[in-house]
Amino acid sequence: MTDSVASRVYNFSPGPAVLPEPVLQEARDQLMALPGVGMSVLEISHRSKTFDQILEAADANLRKLLSLPDDYHILFLQGGARLQFSMVPMNLLAGQAADYILTGSWGKQAIAEARLAGTVHVAWDGGETHYDHLPSNDQLQLHDDAAYVHFTSNETIQGVQFGVEPGTGKVPLVCDASSDFLSRPLDIPRYGLIYACAQKNVGPAGVTVVILRNDLLDRVPDNLPGMLNYRFQVEQKSCYNTPPVFGVYMVRLVTQWLLDTFGTLDAVDRHNRQKAAWLYDAVDRSQGFYAGHAALDCRSLMNVTFRLRAADGRAESDEALQKQFVAEAAERGLCELKGHRSVGGIRASIYNAMPPEGVAALAEFMDDFRDRHA
Ligand SMILES: Cc1ncc(COP(=O)(O)O)c(C=O)c1O
Repeated sequence: MTDSVASRVYNFSPGPAVLPEPVLQEARDQLMALPGVGMSVLEISHRSKTFDQILEAADANLRKLLSLPDDYHILFLQGGARLQFSMVPMNLLAGQAADYILTGSWGKQAIAEARLAGTVHVAWDGGETHYDHLPSNDQLQLHDDAAYVHFTSNETIQGVQFGVEPGTGKVPLVCDASSDFLSRPLDIPRYGLIYACAQKNVGPAGVTVVILRNDLLDRVPDNLPGMLNYRFQVEQKSCYNTPPVFGVYMVRLVTQWLLDTFGTLDAVDRHNRQKAAWLYDAVDRSQGFYAGHAALDCRSLMNVTFRLRAADGRAESDEALQKQFVAEAAERGLCELKGHRSVGGIRASIYNAMPPEGVAALAEFMDDFRDRHA
């Protein structure tokens, strides 16, 4: 292990987030020259055979991990998940309305952008209880003629995650899977489209993976600009303009790491469940010192959110304690634990690449901090 690797902290950032160390090492080793190519991945043409192979390998790895049927396309696009908030309705509404399930901050943003493109019905809104739980199927107000049903599988800020997909009958599901993509298997035939920015579980910022079923391309209006047109991007194999070459290369490395280390997304899921359980157990045995944000049945396996409760019951004391928690944790190399400004408290993001040792160290710190401050 080199010094730079030895001095790495445990990075609990919600994204851009921790990447697997073997991936970073391989990228570092190949940065000056790709083996047999003599040029860096940062220097090669996106029209070269080398890049074709990189993109094809990333595509093949994703297909293998997700058991993706042949009638689904994979796109590597730019503009982040936020551009998908716009591209999805621009391409798929086709004059109809869509149903959106609103379970947190990101769903809200997706709705705001979709409304600029067409009509949106909110099928459920968890705002009244600060997005701390998810709807059951019978609470959803869905329309049989909706163009699609959009949901956010994991709300990164609130830390609520769907355990199973919402039931939508024949209407295709569209999912913002940005913060739990490749963390578990998906029932792919239920989805029309899945999108995920890479910078949480799949690679660096700058590339967004979009998976979409072929029949949905029939809906794409002809008058959309090429860059925003799914049908055109499929025809151009994600290379209409210069794609995010380094990002696609990193997605290839991360997906290869998943295949080599875990083999299947079932195994990744088991690993993630174990890690999340360590932190939620620390919350649950704290006798109220730590209070989880999410209801028990929708706790996220990726973003663990909780607040600290000071003994005197004063909000200012809670805040002070949270600050102290974040600062002391950082001194122990447990970094980026501050919750999102809109929710406060603590958020530990424990994506695929967060090593179990990091999560175990955080759980131990939580017990220790509680013993000293409860
Ligand atoms: C669930 C979810 N959706 C969308 C986004 C926005 O992603 P981007 O910054 O790539 O547009 C994020 C990023 O934090 C996210 O967590």
